[in-house]
Amino acid sequence: MNLKKLIRNVPNFPKEGIIFRDITTILQSPEGLKWAIESMEKSLEGLEFDYIIGPESRGFIFGVPLAYNLGKGFIPVRKEGKLPYTTKSKAYDLEYGTATIEVHTDAFTPGQKVVIVDDLLATGGTSKAIIDLVEEMGGEVVKLVYLIELDFLQGRKVLGDYNVTSLINYDDEE
Ligand code: PRP
Ligand code: MG
Repeated sequence: MNLKKLIRNVPNFPKEGIIFRDITTILQSPEGLKWAIESMEKSLEGLEFDYIIGPESRGFIFGVPLAYNLGKGFIPVRKEGKLPYTTKSKAYDLEYGTATIEVHTDAFTPGQKVVIVDDLLATGGTSKAIIDLVEEMGGEVVKLVYLIELDFLQGRKVLGDYNVTSLINYDDEE
């Protein structure tokens, strides 16, 4: 299946010079959505873990169906001020701008294993912030799964030796 054909390329969004890879057109396609979720699932075959963890908002779109299908729980990572209970937070740099993410302090217990799921690996800033949060809380990140990876932004360097899978890669601003 040629998933790239289902991704809409929007030039100069959210700012000049950036080609935005729009996944709404994959979500809209029953076959595209099925392929995306099932392929992410395959990348987790045989892996032992306790939770899927994913960042607001596009990480929820893929993280929840994956967790549901695999019989796991889902841990939401949210932007500042959205989670109601006690939180641990982390500031990080985005491809465009900065942000702070938070997770509930009782989301998992020390020693538990989590898989990070998101739609996109760009600079790796978001994922690194989640890794830091998880590890500071005593958890273990056993894998990271993405629909899209923007190779030219070298997010994998930021993620170092972690086990990373992405389904669709962009080598440059093609
Ligand atoms: C986007 C994307 C990833 C992150 C990738 O989310 O959905 O979560 O940026 O970039 P990075 O690898 O450079 O950190 P964004 O914060 O724009 O929010 P959204 O998911 O709510 O659209
Ligand atoms: Mg996001």
